Amino acid sequence: MAKDIHKNEFDFGTKIKLEIFREYLKAWLPTFTKARKIYWNDIFIYDFFSGEGKDSEGNSGSPLIIIEELTSHHEAINSNNLNLRVVLNEKLKRKFNVLKEVVHSRVASGVPYKIELYQKPFKEFFQEQYFRMKSDQSPRLIFLDQYGIKEITKDVFSMLVSLKRTDFIFFISSSFVRRFNEQEEFQNYIALTKNDFDKSRPVHSHRVIFEYYKALLGKEYHLAPFSIKKGSNVYGLIFGSNHSLGLEKFLNIAWKINPHSGDANFNIDEEGYLNTGQWSLFPSENLPKKLNIFERDLKTKILSGELSSDIEVYNYSLDQGFLPRHANAVLKELISSGRINNIKTTSSNIHRLSPPQKIVIHE
Ligand SMILES: C[S@@+](CC[C@H](N)C(=O)[O-])C[C@H]1O[C@@H](n2cnc3c(N)ncnc32)[C@H](O)[C@@H]1O
Repeated sequence: MAKDIHKNEFDFGTKIKLEIFREYLKAWLPTFTKARKIYWNDIFIYDFFSGEGKDSEGNSGSPLIIIEELTSHHEAINSNNLNLRVVLNEKLKRKFNVLKEVVHSRVASGVPYKIELYQKPFKEFFQEQYFRMKSDQSPRLIFLDQYGIKEITKDVFSMLVSLKRTDFIFFISSSFVRRFNEQEEFQNYIALTKNDFDKSRPVHSHRVIFEYYKALLGKEYHLAPFSIKKGSNVYGLIFGSNHSLGLEKFLNIAWKINPHSGDANFNIDEEGYLNTGQWSLFPSENLPKKLNIFERDLKTKILSGELSSDIEVYNYSLDQGFLPRHANAVLKELISSGRINNIKTTSSNIHRLSPPQKIVIHE
């Protein structure tokens, strides 16, 4: 049975998870409430595993985070005549009752959005909501903070990625998949075997999980992982969006938390350290390995003509988990050494780039 996370103060890993959710919500909301041109009436924020609203010390859980972040959007929601709905769900009756009370005590009367509260098992509720979601193109942010690993099955994942204008963040206990994948029951949830984990180290468990979900895609889509270490266990978030702007926003948050690798709340590749735990005196050894590999691969792809425009370079970089500024370091080096033509580099809003600038390779 999973530990009840609301009984005590949220631990450090939970706080990081919630901080990422908060920061993403902060970046996501204005895109839809304060857009220059509004193409939608409805906006949805779903929290499918809401919990009690806060921890034992009064720290805000995901439902209160949503309410807090909406405060600076009341005016925009009103003036743009938006119908914004916050959908909260919690299966356990006791927790649901606490949630209801907490939410009612924190939401001021007259707020310009609606809160819908449900007490249903996720699978059943998600199916119901999915029928409502798939028939329209309203902007949606979906948070799926499950306990363990059982809820985001292959089917749920393919439903999530089929939705238009939808971004999601889900949580998964990656170390558990590594530890228990041999048990038959596990295969009903995630079809990974011991073999899939054999080539990786335990700290990289969440990257294996990420590759599993990525391999299910079979279409152009944007995913990113973020590993969270709690004691000896690794958990993680998977972010998904069908728009490159969503991915860019998520990666900005991830690289702010970890300027070395942008995909974990710890030194996931033990980069920059010698085996002694000291920083190396040689600058090249201090360069993060993940970044080194990315730079080398990107350079090869540009010089072989595989990536032949600025847009292709930036989209490839985002999908590898890197920001435009990481790609720009490579582009600028190739330009200044005369290997490619002088193209203008960009550091944000890649989706606005048009038309593409062609990269010409100088022999
Ligand atoms: C990790 S906690 C969510 C914490 C929440 N995001 C917060 O910030 O406080 C997971 C919650 O999901 C609930 N839960 C577990 N299984 C569920 C299911 N099948 N359907 C809906 N809720 C479920 C649990 O009771 C628990 O409150």
